[in-house]
Amino acid sequence: MSDRNLITAIRAREVLDCRGLPTVQVDLELGGTVTGTADVPSGRSTGSNEARELRDGGERFGGFGVLEAVANVNGEIADSLVGTELPEQRALDSALIELDGTENKSRLGANAILGVSLAAARARAQAAGVPLYRALNANAHVLPVPLVNLINGGKHASNDLDFQEFIVIPVGADSILEALQISTEVNLALAEILLERYGKSALNTGDEGGYAPAISSPHEALGLLHEAVANAGHEGRFRYGLDCAATHLYDGESGTYTVAGERYDTDGMIELYLELIREFDVITIEDPLDEEDFEGFARLTAASGIQIVGDDLFVTNPKRLRTGIDQNAANALLWKVNQIGTLSEALDAAELAHRNAYKVVVSERSGETEDPIIADLSVALGAGQIKTGAPVRGERTSKYNRLIRISEELGSTAVYPGREMAPAALAA
Ligand code: PGA
Ligand code: ZN
Repeated sequence: MSDRNLITAIRAREVLDCRGLPTVQVDLELGGTVTGTADVPSGRSTGSNEARELRDGGERFGGFGVLEAVANVNGEIADSLVGTELPEQRALDSALIELDGTENKSRLGANAILGVSLAAARARAQAAGVPLYRALNANAHVLPVPLVNLINGGKHASNDLDFQEFIVIPVGADSILEALQISTEVNLALAEILLERYGKSALNTGDEGGYAPAISSPHEALGLLHEAVANAGHEGRFRYGLDCAATHLYDGESGTYTVAGERYDTDGMIELYLELIREFDVITIEDPLDEEDFEGFARLTAASGIQIVGDDLFVTNPKRLRTGIDQNAANALLWKVNQIGTLSEALDAAELAHRNAYKVVVSERSGETEDPIIADLSVALGAGQIKTGAPVRGERTSKYNRLIRISEELGSTAVYPGREMAPAALAA
């Protein structure tokens, strides 16, 4: 008789992400019948405290190959797990962490470890005959409000915009489907404005599918989003957000940031943000300051009264989040599973956030595949917010489309918490 919980195979391979760079895909087979598969995403504007993904170096793929990580899955990890019972997620992840033996998963590679961790979660759900979000949370019913990144800058685009993401938030929608509809209408209206005002080249896009016009001022970018929302006929139904990825704008020697050719010290940056918040209805700002500046984050959080999100600051690491909570550094956690490298540790970070009244924003990476797993994870967490790029291109739409299916499965029990993010948002 076949044991349905026996790990009968673990196989990894190199596949391509949306930038054409290699990444790890893992299959984990249970009982010889059920296979869970997961792809590992990869960042470009990474925080220095993230778990380490293994890259081969050398000539192949410009050094970005992941054959070593693949070999670690097919060799050491498979050797230790195949033929054993699949344990609970937490026990599995602890075993992987122990096998690796380093603080930042640099020996086997966070990309190797995460692939196995996520594939196991998928296999377990499949064996139970339920969707992943349901396997992880019997009460899951909250769809996330998408933070839709329509203008790209920073390390994600070849333009002069220093901030990385200019975001529209469909708070005045009643469902995820309507949220995607009106966000896409805004994106189409934005394209018209860009074409008319800056010419064809303004329609080139960045890593997350948002437009990358040749502008440099954050005021101008936010102004364009407002205009697009108005032209699409959705005034009042949107709020706005930024991911500044400010670690990458920071010069440690002078203690200054460069934005649109101007230098700002920390106080100057805080002033700039307060001005943008007042002028443009910005309700969330991610990584406004350098990844080690917990104190500056705390000052902005207190002064702004809006959602301040730690991405490079926290790197989905419960220890760094604890430090942030103790210092009142922010009030939201950007949640990226590959920053920490196992599902259990990422779940711990989310739980710690929730216990301390921090919001959780589930996020993609700029280097994604068509694997929609974060859609399920966002619903499992009841996070209420997801950041997964512009509503274009397969590696982004796979997540949005998965949310549409989940919403259909949840039927009348589904909750779309847009108005909770901005209570004054106008009704449709
Ligand atoms: P990354 O960017 O995936 O390139 O790190 C995403 C983000 O900063 O939120
Ligand atoms: Zn970020």
